[in-house]
Amino acid sequence: MSQRNSMLSFTAALLFLLPWFGGLVVGELSKDFSQCLQFFYNKTPPAGINVKEHQPICQRYNNTYRFASLYHRQHRAPLYSAYILSPADGPRPVTPWMYEPQLAGASPDMRPFGRTVDQNVVESQAVDQDYTNSGFTRGHLNPSSHQRTEDDRKATFTLTNIVPQKEGSNSGPWSQFEENVSKRFNNFCTGSMYVITGVMPYKSKTHKINNRVYVPEYLWSAYCCPSYKPDLPENEKQLFPTFAAVGRNDPSSGEEIVSVNKTAKPAVRGYDVKEMPLQELEAILNKRLNVPVSVFNGKCLK
Ligand SMILES: *[C@@H]1O[C@H](CO)[C@@H](O)[C@H](O)[C@H]1NC(C)=O
Ligand SMILES: *[C@@H]1O[C@H](CO)[C@@H](O)[C@H](O)[C@H]1NC(C)=O
Ligand SMILES: *[C@@H]1O[C@H](CO)[C@@H](O)[C@H](O)[C@H]1NC(C)=O
Repeated sequence: MSQRNSMLSFTAALLFLLPWFGGLVVGELSKDFSQCLQFFYNKTPPAGINVKEHQPICQRYNNTYRFASLYHRQHRAPLYSAYILSPADGPRPVTPWMYEPQLAGASPDMRPFGRTVDQNVVESQAVDQDYTNSGFTRGHLNPSSHQRTEDDRKATFTLTNIVPQKEGSNSGPWSQFEENVSKRFNNFCTGSMYVITGVMPYKSKTHKINNRVYVPEYLWSAYCCPSYKPDLPENEKQLFPTFAAVGRNDPSSGEEIVSVNKTAKPAVRGYDVKEMPLQELEAILNKRLNVPVSVFNGKCLK
């Protein structure tokens, strides 16, 4: 391409993108997590997952920051959510699904979807309709059961914390895993437990719902609990201060990452969760994302 032609197409691309960027400068969107670093262990987001290429969201509800998510705009889904676990002191709240006005250039508090949804919102993120009749449930990365107060639990019901998750995973092994982590926290942690839960996209062919929202092939999670009881039972010792897991979201995936329990009940067969040391998860992420990933920045060491 000649220099002039490439200049022209660059200008054309810029003009095409202008309305999009124009809408963004109005909001309080941040290029980093500076307003919500407290949700990351050692106030440090994972190394290797480039924050600048994506959209950091400090998830704010009722005037308070509740957790953090790294949002992939093109996928219309989060790459991960980071939070501090404190088990729920009440039931799952009855609460409407919410969206993130920041992504559409408006106020910083998440808001419930109304009867009509603004076109800027539809363009900028997933909406209710994407999930309706999609064959996928709304999978929380930060689950409401890991949040103590009602407002903290409600805040997890933003679609910017949600990925398309198969029912067999969401109400099967993955929810069992979430429950297991809560129990582990209750039984053995003496301080905060920092959790990061994210997605692994498909390697080649993409899967989308409503031709808009990317479906992850696997979910992953890791926790860091730097202060724990000194007298751990022998079989729990390897689980502290940090451990990780990968869960299947597609029964037809190969078994090189997580194998399938063939005798599991049909409803949950193929959705196994494998717990593993943090290093094993990081090696898997490294291979899948083609960059060295350090979930807790090498700071949460055995
Ligand atoms: C917002 O937070 C305040 C202070 O914690 C609380 O009194 C109020 O009920 C909350 N409002 C909503 C709508 O959750
Ligand atoms: C949860 O804990 C139970 C009891 O220890 C165990 O049998 C099960 O495999 C665990 N499930 C997951 C998905 O971690
Ligand atoms: C496989 O699933 C069956 C049925 O739920 C269970 O009894 C068995 O322990 C599982 N095996 C493994 C290796 O997890």
